[in-house]
Amino acid sequence: MIIAVDGPAGSGKSTVADIVAKKLGFIHFNSGLLYRGITAYLLKNELDINDVKKEDIILETSFIGDVQHVFVNGEDYTPYLRENIVSINSTIVGKNPITRQIVDDCQRTFCSANNCIIDGRDIGTHVFPNAELKFYVDCNVKVRAKRRFLEEQEKNSNVSLKAIEMQIIERDETDKNRKIAPLVQAPDAIYIDTSDLTIDQVVELMMKYYYELGLTQK
Ligand code: C5P
Repeated sequence: MIIAVDGPAGSGKSTVADIVAKKLGFIHFNSGLLYRGITAYLLKNELDINDVKKEDIILETSFIGDVQHVFVNGEDYTPYLRENIVSINSTIVGKNPITRQIVDDCQRTFCSANNCIIDGRDIGTHVFPNAELKFYVDCNVKVRAKRRFLEEQEKNSNVSLKAIEMQIIERDETDKNRKIAPLVQAPDAIYIDTSDLTIDQVVELMMKYYYELGLTQK
């Protein structure tokens, strides 16, 4: 079974997907980490982020304990995936059709063999259009910027709240307007605005829809 959770950066989709996965005994597969892995590989090796060649990249992901690791050409890029420089550049790397093809292949192979809740931008619209349950998790940009700012502060980063808000607006624009698999709500996705909800409330809502699905399928 596939549960798709799409939405913009900082909407909280990954946090809630993680909790829902644990409750259901599913794997939480974070598709953004794959884009981040390729981005980290390009940046760390000082390669051109606009020039990705399929034959140059072997992308793999696996779980070590609860942690999703991302390997490019056999090297583990997991320690770099959450760096702010990787976040900013991953949106540019994600525009490239070749990158998207590499990531699509990797996630389809992994998730077709497992019960997964997958978060991303194009899961319900493009990667798994037949997912049994789809959510579109949205949130006001000011709230998203505040959440990311607090995460950055925990990492002792000195990036300002305003700078994070600008980065989020720019990443949203790029994700929503790219030609291939843009960020858009699937017509059959359930819309959840998390701006005024706690994590527990969002999880509760998702679980309610999951059980309702079971009832309608019986
Ligand atoms: O979700 P996260 O912020 O980690 O994703 C990093 C970047 O990867 C996003 O800004 C987006 O451009 C890209 N992405 C995507 N499609 C997905 C997941 C992520 O284009 N399914």
